[in-house]
Amino acid sequence: MDHEDIGSNISSNRPFREVLWGYASRRGVIKGGLAAAVGTFLGIPFAFGKPDDKEGSHGSGHPDRENGRINFTPVAVADGGGPEPNISADYRYQVLIPWGTALDRNAADYSGDPDRRATASEQARQVGIGHDGMRFFPFRGSSTHGLLALNHEYGENKHVLGKPAPANLEEVRRSQNAHGISVVEIRSDAGRWELVKGSQYNRRVHVNTPVEFSGPVAGSDLVFARADAAGTLNNCSNGFTPWGTYLTCEENFNYYFNDPGSDWKATTEQARYGISRNGLGFGWGNFDDRFSLATGGHPTVVNSFGWVVEVDPFAPDSKPVKRTALGRFKHEGIAIVEGSGGRIVGYMGDDEANDYIYKFVSDGNWQSMRARGLSPLDHGTLYAARFDEDGSGEWLELSLNNRVIKDAGRFSSEAELLTYARIAADIAGATPMDRPEWTAVAPNGDVYCTLTANLVRKVADAANPLAPNPHGHIIRWRDSDQHTGRDFNWDIFIVAADTHGEGDERTFSGPDGLWIDPDGRLFIQTDAGQRKGLNNQMLVASTSESGGNPQLRRLFTGVIGDEITGITVTPDRRTMFINIQHPGNGDPTLTNFPAPQDGVTIPRDCTIVINRKDGGIIGS
Ligand code: FEO
Ligand code: CA
Ligand code: CA
Repeated sequence: MDHEDIGSNISSNRPFREVLWGYASRRGVIKGGLAAAVGTFLGIPFAFGKPDDKEGSHGSGHPDRENGRINFTPVAVADGGGPEPNISADYRYQVLIPWGTALDRNAADYSGDPDRRATASEQARQVGIGHDGMRFFPFRGSSTHGLLALNHEYGENKHVLGKPAPANLEEVRRSQNAHGISVVEIRSDAGRWELVKGSQYNRRVHVNTPVEFSGPVAGSDLVFARADAAGTLNNCSNGFTPWGTYLTCEENFNYYFNDPGSDWKATTEQARYGISRNGLGFGWGNFDDRFSLATGGHPTVVNSFGWVVEVDPFAPDSKPVKRTALGRFKHEGIAIVEGSGGRIVGYMGDDEANDYIYKFVSDGNWQSMRARGLSPLDHGTLYAARFDEDGSGEWLELSLNNRVIKDAGRFSSEAELLTYARIAADIAGATPMDRPEWTAVAPNGDVYCTLTANLVRKVADAANPLAPNPHGHIIRWRDSDQHTGRDFNWDIFIVAADTHGEGDERTFSGPDGLWIDPDGRLFIQTDAGQRKGLNNQMLVASTSESGGNPQLRRLFTGVIGDEITGITVTPDRRTMFINIQHPGNGDPTLTNFPAPQDGVTIPRDCTIVINRKDGGIIGS
């Protein structure tokens, strides 16, 4: 059981208490409700980044693109296990930037040698561990040269340090410096990608990197007064903005705080965010007061994590900015889309059992806000989703303008409400979900969200139809008013492990990473024990069918003990980057990947570069 499976939501939000299992009937909603909505939806396919950063166009007439054709030979279940990855026979892959790759010229890469680990200062100038969400930022639209920004979610002590707990501050710093994000310049030379060592853009951001707070909570005494030292950690999934910046999302920040021996007790707010005496056993608080629940700047230090953080990959000296208007929770990722009136809309999951799906809508047109010197991510409205059993739903405003929240009298300011956004969503009556992970927006405006599992769900409802839910599902919705409205229609796209009568070759469990290409191909990445001896995997599904039985093919399987996560493509979509996180869970007797299998070399998290052998669009 993952830590997130335990859940910390003890609110009584159970809007569909008596609703029985019935996702099949829900599929009718998508046909009637969403299909009907398509006729009035004025949105256009969304593909942005820098002005030259397009992910290809929709409906070009190219045979690869028509109807999101999926035509590759899938990896068979029988081939999907073991210590090395497997990829479709129509594709090839390359390993890029494993944990420990040095950013600078004349600096040695870490090889996975168990007897020669990096020092803390070496780690601060090497690619981190726990590769997760990422984004390719091309130079001038190039599909062979650009910056790759990627998250380093976490690496357990036994993997990074080779032992269960740090013995001194140097080892804490080594662990901390393996977290955060990397920005690296990469280029392809004759089809082989490599990091450009010594690039002015190569950068690490980690737990001790100075950051800024912005938005309603900035300057509040709810967060660490020394915001310049807050850093960032447990950077899980990501997003990106139309003005060319990277968004890194802080998820399980509670893992890193611990109590080295006092009689500390969690406040109600800390308990709601999962802060506990031992965290996940990182032991940082034993040597670094910031992470000690007994002596640190607590609770303001704890409140300094759980935000979406904006980083400009093209400005290596710029400070990362924590955008507090997006609320504080265990942010999985953020899918940003341009809504009506040019407003920025961001969809976000809070990955914990029985937590919520959120959206943020900027106050105004993003270009005019930026022209006035305002960040669209600092001024807007946060909502949490309520899914009703008839296939409709409502976005519940999380502010003191919401009468339900105001009358509850819990919050004295917007800053306090945003710092404890989970509690605001509890009060508003949001629907507890089965661990919301990634969100993705389809070219037709549908929004998809992976619900990875919920082992503690006691009562099923329409949107979470299994109790418990061992394998997870994917839900989708269509907002009114081009993403900015308060009403939506929803349906369940697919229930994982449900083979729809087509046998085990379609099986998967624990949907997590998610991306939709401009032709409507849905890429699903998994993080859970897979059935039938499979390692974690990436599948491609068709979204052109209206519910029921999407095409589904397995493109890639990872190595034993890993998860597959992170997804981005070059502008021509002929190259895709994904990540292998925690291969073998760090155990060299299970796998040594990406090193040859020798039983000794420590496995390293790494990026996988994927190409079609015939040069076609990835997923076709
Ligand atoms: Fe970091 Fe919920 O995955
Ligand atoms: Ca995830
Ligand atoms: Ca996960």
